[in-house]
Amino acid sequence: MSLINSKRFLQRLEKINNLKISSKNIGVNRIALSKEDKNARDIIISWMKSLKLEIKIDNIGNIFGLYNCHNKTSPLLLGSHIDSVKNGGKYDGVLGVVGALEVIQTLIEKNKIKESIGLAVFTNEEGVRFAPDMMGSWSFTKKENIKKIHKIKDIENITIKEALKKINYLGKEKQLFFKPKSFLELHIEQGPILYNNKKDIGIVKGVQAITWLKISLFGESNHAGTTPLKNRQDPMLVFGKINNYINTLSTKKNNQLITIGSMNVQPNQINVIANKIEFTIDMRNPKDDKLDNVEKKIKRTIKKLCSESNIKFKIKKLVKFTSVKFDHKLNSIIKYHSEKLQYSNMNLFSGAGHDAQMLAKICPTSMIFVPSTNGISHDKREHTKYKNLIKGINLLYSVAKNLLNN
Ligand code: GLV
Ligand code: MN
Ligand code: MN
Repeated sequence: MSLINSKRFLQRLEKINNLKISSKNIGVNRIALSKEDKNARDIIISWMKSLKLEIKIDNIGNIFGLYNCHNKTSPLLLGSHIDSVKNGGKYDGVLGVVGALEVIQTLIEKNKIKESIGLAVFTNEEGVRFAPDMMGSWSFTKKENIKKIHKIKDIENITIKEALKKINYLGKEKQLFFKPKSFLELHIEQGPILYNNKKDIGIVKGVQAITWLKISLFGESNHAGTTPLKNRQDPMLVFGKINNYINTLSTKKNNQLITIGSMNVQPNQINVIANKIEFTIDMRNPKDDKLDNVEKKIKRTIKKLCSESNIKFKIKKLVKFTSVKFDHKLNSIIKYHSEKLQYSNMNLFSGAGHDAQMLAKICPTSMIFVPSTNGISHDKREHTKYKNLIKGINLLYSVAKNLLNN
């Protein structure tokens, strides 16, 4: 049984993604502030308008659709993001937006809204074009001066501000122009825990800490066939050693994960020694002090290995987000309604970063997860069973209805 209009949800989901739900292995490419992102934003705003939500856009392009929100009221806020990684999945982020829209529409239709409620679509959650990730929610919660954020550039030297203007989403609302009463985000788990444990619902206890670094190693280009080893300044050799060292730090015992996910080699030719290598390090740990320790070790080792090989280096910190705990009271309400709906559930910690971790700093916040088949995400093979998507939205509906009437 569905509490919401699952057919309407499905139609909207397919429209936003321009993909049938049955399509397999076709990636979503809705990179933040691209024309695909703009199209999806425009569609969501048209749906919000049809529900007579009041549309507000802030100075980082976050979109808010507010209902019953008069001066100084604090709405229950639902939402997530619609940007994707390259060749990403069909539900990462967009489930929490289109699902929340369905919840709000059902509440309006059933006359269940006495208080104020809102839908948030946060800008650039993924951070693949502009770092940091969770940029829109981070900016909304006033963690950084907006003028500084507007100057952040992508690899083509386009600033956030220029990109926002180009797609016509540089709004006029200021950071934290309203304070939500609570925030709830529905999301796919993006990992294997619910799938392996055969559970319908994850009640999220919190999000682990994240640090992103960008490392540049500088050497000297020369001929690959003639330059003797002793005359080389080859950053690739040092990169290999750094990579090996980093792999020794990723351990199950410490819950430490480290990923080198992107790399740029110059001049990138088969018979030329590289003169510059840039790569990123994504490191995560549920414990802040452990992550800080690992970061220090990596920096020390890069310094040592570079000086041994006469390689100059630069380390830039792109992201540092501490771990976050979600609201116990909200989680007990989610648990209560999950049991009532007879959905199997478990508590878990999120491995992925989410907008909710930013909102948790300003209001009671939590998340509802649904299982990712085989634990795959950030890839076109990402999948969640349709019935699980609907269970997640039903639960969000039940919890929102409860919060509004109490
Ligand atoms: C966001 O998806 C992240 O965890 O990188
Ligand atoms: Mn996401
Ligand atoms: Mn993601």
